[in-house]
Amino acid sequence: MKKISVIYWTQWGNVEALADAVAKGAKGAGAEVNIEQVSDANFREVKDCDAIAFGSPSMDNNQIEQQEMEPFVDKFKLLPNDGKPIVLFGSYGWDEGKFIRDWEAKMKDFGFNVVGKLAVKETPTEQQLEEAKKLGKLLVDSI
Ligand SMILES: Cc1cc2nc3c(=O)[nH]c(=O)nc-3n(C[C@H](O)[C@H](O)[C@H](O)COP(=O)(O)O)c2cc1C
Repeated sequence: MKKISVIYWTQWGNVEALADAVAKGAKGAGAEVNIEQVSDANFREVKDCDAIAFGSPSMDNNQIEQQEMEPFVDKFKLLPNDGKPIVLFGSYGWDEGKFIRDWEAKMKDFGFNVVGKLAVKETPTEQQLEEAKKLGKLLVDSI
């Protein structure tokens, strides 16, 4: 069975709502899904998954969250990521998605195959939650 990790950081729940929808979409596509906040994530287990979904709000001057999410993600920098599929998702207040475009560029530099991304303004709408589900399915289908 394909193994997916959904790893996210949230403070007010917007990114968590997206994470739940991504996980639902991935499960619906037949994957075994482990979903957790980055503070609970085990790096070894995450790196051994077939594909990963990362989620963060835009914080700290239009960047992914700096205290937990970025240090976790940066651990992948020195690994041979070999084109492993990932998707990125998150929520912003005013940067219109700049943080996720920058994040995508960084993860490509790390050797990941970024197969999709979704950035929403504040709380996701029902339609955006559907898009997040599709992102989960896309991730599984790209393994
Ligand atoms: C302390 C703080 C810093 C923030 N910094 C930014 C920022 O630099 N750029 C931006 O677009 N939004 C910023 N936001 C808005 C959050 O990205 C937005 O509210 C997001 O939906 C929060 O996600 P969450 O509900 O999962 O925590 C900030 C919010 C807070 C409270």
